[in-house]
Order: sequence, then structure tokens, then C-alpha cells
Amino acid sequence: MSDGAEGAPKLLVRDLDQLVTAPANASAPMRGEALRALEITEQAFVLCDAGRFVASGRMRDLGPTDGDVEEIDGSGRCAVPGLVDCHTHPCFLGDRVDEFALRACGASYEQLHAAGGGILSTVRATRAGSEDELAAAVERHRDWMLRAGTTTFEGKSGYGLDRVTELASLTAVAAAGGVPTWLGAHAVPPKFDDAGGYLDFAIGEVLPEAAVIAEAADVFLEEGAFDVAQARRYLAACRDAGLALRLHGDQFNELGAVALAIELGARSVDHLEATGDEGVRALAASDVVGVLLPASALFLDRPMPPARALVDAGVAIALATDFNPGSAFCESLPVVSALACTQLHLSPAEALASCTVNAAHVLRRSDRCGRIAPGFDADLVLLDAPDWRYLAYHLGGDLVSGVVKGGIVAWTR
Ligand code: NIG
Ligand code: FE
Repeated sequence: MSDGAEGAPKLLVRDLDQLVTAPANASAPMRGEALRALEITEQAFVLCDAGRFVASGRMRDLGPTDGDVEEIDGSGRCAVPGLVDCHTHPCFLGDRVDEFALRACGASYEQLHAAGGGILSTVRATRAGSEDELAAAVERHRDWMLRAGTTTFEGKSGYGLDRVTELASLTAVAAAGGVPTWLGAHAVPPKFDDAGGYLDFAIGEVLPEAAVIAEAADVFLEEGAFDVAQARRYLAACRDAGLALRLHGDQFNELGAVALAIELGARSVDHLEATGDEGVRALAASDVVGVLLPASALFLDRPMPPARALVDAGVAIALATDFNPGSAFCESLPVVSALACTQLHLSPAEALASCTVNAAHVLRRSDRCGRIAPGFDADLVLLDAPDWRYLAYHLGGDLVSGVVKGGIVAWTR
């Protein structure tokens, strides 16, 4: 599938039933009321040139287009911005389908993790493969995402937890066109007696090279993984090496991840299923984005994050899949949008803004993706629907009928 390019020819998508995007002044994450303020154009066109949007509006205002222009008939379809998945774990080999079946019969995710399964079983499978196999797996997962409308994705390492596999993971994400995040503190691998000893190794032996490839660092702050002091040590070292900071926090237990994220100026704290009122208030007064992962809560049969309270308090939120083999084997942001509306009680508009413009902000790409606006990367999703809200409404449906990335049709039907 194509990544698009500067040399992309002109592309006109015409006769769309609806074209939907965040407003043009959205330079910061949208919060509160503003999260609902989408622009909807009926009977619309959008014109792309050299990989960027150059114009959009109503069909009746479409002037003549000069030169060679490829056209897509948008009738019966809606267009939304290319979706942005700001939290995925695509660097793995093998699967956890056996654990999935055990969980279906009553075993808990935490029990499997404590028994050496869970994340560590994927670490074993991932280390056992070659770098080429890992790169091919990341490409396969990226293509699954693209089929579901994701044109920009973040990808975390974290299933190597040794120098070679962590660096190969980050390289594979970058090579697949993703935004690499070093999840060096995902779990303590077996060779180490404790988290402190592992962090000595990770910070001393992996960070210097990881910081060259990755844009951000991430940590799993949770019982059985890393505590607040360990997470602070790891993240501070990563920040000093030039990386932006992310945290997996409040997934099962509220251990202080929100306060640590604010203290360190992290871009985001992700999960928040266990976040209480004080955490909601603290996040609302900060610039840290709360990334909500309802597919993970559903997949693990855990409580959903307090999304309505977060949005109503003024927290900047984003939505992501958390795609991974253990807690969320789901690459579909349309499915996540459906969960956002049915389980998190967000409106379709809040859901769309959360997985476009706000997710782009988490990835520091809000000046080039997540919106259909002149000068932005020409990334868009065509929905086989008369109303853009089918994105969340048509649960698990065959809804995405085409994707444009960088002004080039990646696929269509
Ligand atoms: O975001 N919670 C930690 N990490 C992943 C799950 C990883 C796995 O189970 O393999 C998550 O849910
Ligand atoms: Fe995750």
C-alpha cells in the first residue's frame, strides 16, 4: 500500500454526501464543549494536490480544475479525516489465543501475567523470531490498521526487553511509517532479579540508541510491573535523552500515574480505567492528554474509564485502540468509536475528534494530520454511509470503503 508522496497527482473526491472535520482553528487539543464542534459540509468535494489538501467545500462552489485530475465519486459516501491511532503495540510475533480461551473460561489477565504468561509470553515469541519477521509483522499490523481507516499510527516496542529486539522493534515501526515509542519499561524480563536491575540495563544499554529512533518513551506503571519511583527514574532518564513521555497508568490500580505524568510534563497518561475524582480534577488542570482505550477494557472485561467525567471536567482526551495480542487484539478505530459512544457515553462528534485532531496532538502532528484543511496531509477515510455518524453507529460493519493517504488512493472498493 502506498504512503503517498510529494509527487502525488491531483485527486478530487466529489459529490460526497458529507465531509466532516474539526474546525480550522484547532491548534491545541479540543476540550469540553469544543470537542463536539465539528464542521459538517453536505454535498461536498475535497481536492488534494502533491499529497496535501488544497481545497474543500460545497459541490456548487467547485470551480474548474486544471491539469490531470484523478476523480473519486463520493456519492453515497462520507469523508472524515484519516484516523490517528496514538497508542498501539504492533511489534510482536505469535499470539495469545490460548490465553484468550483461558480467560474466556475464567482466568484473569493479572493471574496469567503473574504466572509468567501475558506480556512475557509474547516477549518469548518475539525474541525467537528474526528481525525480518518482526518487520513483516509490523507491516502486516499497519496494513490491518490502514484497512480500518488509520492513516497515522504510533507503535510501541516493549516485547523485546533486550537491546537487539527493542531496537529492531523501533526500527520496524519507523520503517513501516509509524511513530515509534520506546516502551522499555513494559515488564521485568526473567533474566533480572528485580525492576531496579532491569532499569539499570535499559537506561544504560538501550536508551542511548533507542533515543535516536524513538520520539517518546512509555512505562507500564502497575502492580507487578513498575512502581512510581521506578517509573520516575526511567522517564526522567528518557526525558534527559530527549524523548517525550507517555505512561500506561491507572489500568488496574490507581498508584499515582496521573500525578507523575503531570509532574514530569508527559504528553499523555493512557488507560485511566481506575482513575478517581481527584485524578480527573488534576488532569483537567493540566496539559496531559488522557488517552482512553475502551477496546482494552472490553477485551479484559474491566470497568470502562470515566470518560464522561473527564470530558465534562475539561480534560483533553484522545481515543486509541491499544492494539496488542493480549489485552486488545483490535486494530479498528471505528470499533473503538462505537465503544466510545455505547460504553463511554461520548457523542459521535467527541469520538471522532478524539481519534483525529486530539490523537494527532498526542503525536505532535496536529499541524499536519487529523484534519481536512488546506496544507494538511491529504489523508482521508471514505465511509460507505449516508451520515458520518455511521463511523460509530455501524458496530463492526464493513463501513470503511476507501482510504487516501498522502493524496494517493491507498485502497478503495
Ligand atoms: O496497554 N498494560 C500493558 N500493556 C498493554 C498490554 C500488553 C499485553 O498484554 O501484551 C496494554 O494493555
Ligand atoms: Fe497499551
